[in-house]
Formats: sequence, C-alpha cells, structure tokens
Amino acid sequence: MEIINDVNQMQQRCLAARQQGQRIAFVPTMGYLHAGHRSLLEEGRKRGDLLVLSIFVNPTQFGQGEDLDSYPRDLTRDSALAEAAGVDLLFAPEAQQMYPRGYATYVDVEGLTDTLCGRSRPGHFRGVTTVVTKLFTIVQPHLALFGCKDFQQLAVIRRMTVDLNLPVEIIGMPIVREADGLAMSSRNVYLSPQERSQALALVAALRLAGKLARGGESSAATIIKAVSERIVSEPDAQIDYIHICQKDTLEDQPVVGRDSVLLLAVKFGNTRLIDNTYLFEEV
Ligand code: PAJ
Repeated sequence: MEIINDVNQMQQRCLAARQQGQRIAFVPTMGYLHAGHRSLLEEGRKRGDLLVLSIFVNPTQFGQGEDLDSYPRDLTRDSALAEAAGVDLLFAPEAQQMYPRGYATYVDVEGLTDTLCGRSRPGHFRGVTTVVTKLFTIVQPHLALFGCKDFQQLAVIRRMTVDLNLPVEIIGMPIVREADGLAMSSRNVYLSPQERSQALALVAALRLAGKLARGGESSAATIIKAVSERIVSEPDAQIDYIHICQKDTLEDQPVVGRDSVLLLAVKFGNTRLIDNTYLFEEV
C-alpha cells in the first residue's frame, strides 16, 4: 500500500492510473476506521482496479464548539486496517495543504441541507460538499462509496454529483452495526459505559417504529411520538430531532409509505449520535 500526503503528488498518481485505464474506487473517510468503513472498502475492492482511501479530519465541516480537536485519530492503526482491506493508495493530506492561506471556494447544496443535521449543524454540509468535491478532483474516481449511516450526507452528495455533472458513480452502502445493534461510528468511543448502554435505545426505537409501520400504523406523528417516548425513557438522552422523510427529497411525510425513512439525532452527554431506517425494512 502506498501512502501519499501531498495533494499534487496524489492527483498526478491518480491521473496516471486513469490514463492507464484503471478503474478507481474511492472511499473518503475521517479515519479511526471501523467495520462500517471496512464494508465500504470491501465493496470498493470488488468494483475497482485501484482502491483509494482518504483519511482527512475536515475542519470546514465542524462548527464552533464541536469536536474537531478531540475527534479520534490513529493513523498507524488505520494504515494497518487499510492494508488488510486491500487498499492500494492511502491519501492523508494536511489541513494546511487542503485549505492553504487565501482559500475562498465553497460548494453549497441548497434545500436538502436546510433540514435535519443541516439545521442543527449550520455550515456542516457546506464543509462536506466542499471537501468531497476537492477529493473527487484530486482522486479522479470512477466510483465513490458512502454509508447510509449518514443518510442525509449521501442524499446531499448524490444531488451535488448530479447538479455539477461530476463523472462519479455514487454507491450507498447499508449501515453496519455492533452485535447489540448500535450503529458503528468513530464517535462511539466518546460514550461512557452508561451512555453506551442507554444509546441502545436508538436501535430499539427504530425497531419499534418499523414494527408499528409494518403493523399498519400510517401516521408519522404517532410513530414519532412512540419513538420519542422510548428514547426519553433513558435519563441521559436529549433528542435533537426525529423525522419521517421521503428518502430522496428529505421532505417530512405525514403519512408513511414505502419510501419513508425515519431519521434521528440524539445526544447522550456531549456525544451526538445519528441513526436511521427505512420503515418497511427490518433493522
Ligand atoms: P466518516 O464519518 O469517517 O465516514 C466515512 C464513510 O463511512 C461515510 O460514507 C459514512 O457514511 C460511512 N460510515 C460511517 N459509519 C458507518 C456505518 N456504521 N455503516 C456503514 N457506513 C458507515 O462521513 C464522513 O466521514 C465525512 O463527512 C466525509 C464524507 C469523509 C467528508 O469529510
């Protein structure tokens, strides 16, 4: 596995691979890799000739007072995991090179970013779409893999890719969970043992919602109330949002249907967790 830190060197390397006819599969991450990331790498390995992983804790997608400084980092461990997953090229740039002095260009997807995490974290998606556009320009991928764990992020990236005519196929991958159901996240390490066990309320609530919907309950308000009650039964849970949305537009859906997804964000102590499910699929 080659490790490249320099932006220009990475771009030259990828342009050359493309010219040689290699199909480039790309998995962008912020590192501290877990089985969720690994599932994206495994799929990328199957679909591409050259598997590229980026690890970059992107400062522009963190708001004031968020966890940019404390975000977990372990490049040594990540490199070993990447190598074992069959990564050919690991790109780990420095923030000063991605955003040098005088940097002034941002990519903004309107509408889709006004709701859910976009409302709670103003500017977050602008940082995500900006860095993903930059990474696409550097890596020149034929396809890029993203997790449905960040459901809104995936919808925003699909929209951006279509709107900007980016020649990249976007592939969404299922949520990978711990054995007990908690969705894998680099941020799970922040949870105390008590918070970790209370956080299981999220998957329990998603399962409850699915059961209600599949049992014939069609009112989003009723399902959201049941989900909310399950979550607030945990002493440290603070709900940020619970919505039932149409899967592509992310517009609220008062009456649930086959294309409904329930999305939630809940804080346990200082740790904000997100999770989601299609109401007609089992978690
Ligand atoms: P990060 O949180 O490191 O996630 C990288 C990719 O892994 C994302 O596509 C995310 O949806 C996926 N992922 C995370 N947890 C997952 C899980 N439990 N199951 C399946 N996939 C999972 O998302 C980001 O980084 C950044 O915003 C990024 C896109 C890299 C831009 O900076």
